Amino acid sequence: MDNSILKLFNTEYPIVQGGMIWCSGWELASAVSNAGGLGLIGSGSMYPEVLVDHIRKCKAATNKPFGVNIPLLYPNIEEHIHSVIEEGVKVVFTSAGNPATWTKKLKDNGITVVHVTANTKFAKKSEDAGVDAIVAEGFEAGGHNGREETTTLCLIPMIKQAVKIPVIAAGGIGTGRGMLAAMALGADGVQIGSRFVASKESSADIHFKNAVINAVEGDTKLMLKQVTPVRLLKTSFLIKCLKRKQEVPALLNFQNY
Ligand SMILES: Cc1cc2nc3c(=O)[nH]c(=O)nc-3n(C[C@H](O)[C@H](O)[C@H](O)COP(=O)(O)O)c2cc1C
Repeated sequence: MDNSILKLFNTEYPIVQGGMIWCSGWELASAVSNAGGLGLIGSGSMYPEVLVDHIRKCKAATNKPFGVNIPLLYPNIEEHIHSVIEEGVKVVFTSAGNPATWTKKLKDNGITVVHVTANTKFAKKSEDAGVDAIVAEGFEAGGHNGREETTTLCLIPMIKQAVKIPVIAAGGIGTGRGMLAAMALGADGVQIGSRFVASKESSADIHFKNAVINAVEGDTKLMLKQVTPVRLLKTSFLIKCLKRKQEVPALLNFQNY
């Protein structure tokens, strides 16, 4: 297959397992990489020493390429950046922040950098910052989300037209047919999150895995739009928060409710 993502990451398939706070440790990342995709360790929930431990275990578990996802809003970001450089990580996916801040330092250290965006403005900004590829993450995606609410179906061709670098589509993709659709719209590869949460190798709690597996249409909701939009499962905890909000409206700013 002649594909820019395969060349960029040196993988067998243009499938990236999205970095996921609490869910994607070294077991999942190395399993995906060993299966021919690109596994990512999600560093957003890890203390610096925990990340180093996961990187070392991943290196021991696979000789295939893998990467680390670093949400740029992480409070001790310098330590994570230092760790990936020191540990010789070859690929870093950044998200939730300004791509201009760390891309040069990472690239100066020989690291392939990809930035996650949900709109064309930030896709262009990421390209200007020198990243090697973009993740175009649409409204369907689990976890943090864009404010524009652009669906993956609409976002892929818009970002593809806006930048010259490879585009990895994310949001609502969990099957081969979904991947084919994304690539028909111009994506060079896909990043998949929720489907991997439910895998054996994911470090998610079994209750969360089961909730993902059992979810039906309408069971997720984009919340916290005024603070930082995030797609959540409607769990009993969330419902309790919504009830509390009715009692104390200023306490929680759930704009959508
Ligand atoms: C539980 C969960 C945690 C996530 N955590 C992160 C994260 O830490 N960093 C990040 O860039 N994206 C994160 N994401 C987004 C995924 O990397 C991926 O882009 C998204 O899940 C794709 O959409 P899908 O869930 O429809 O497959 C998370 C997604 C989920 C479901």
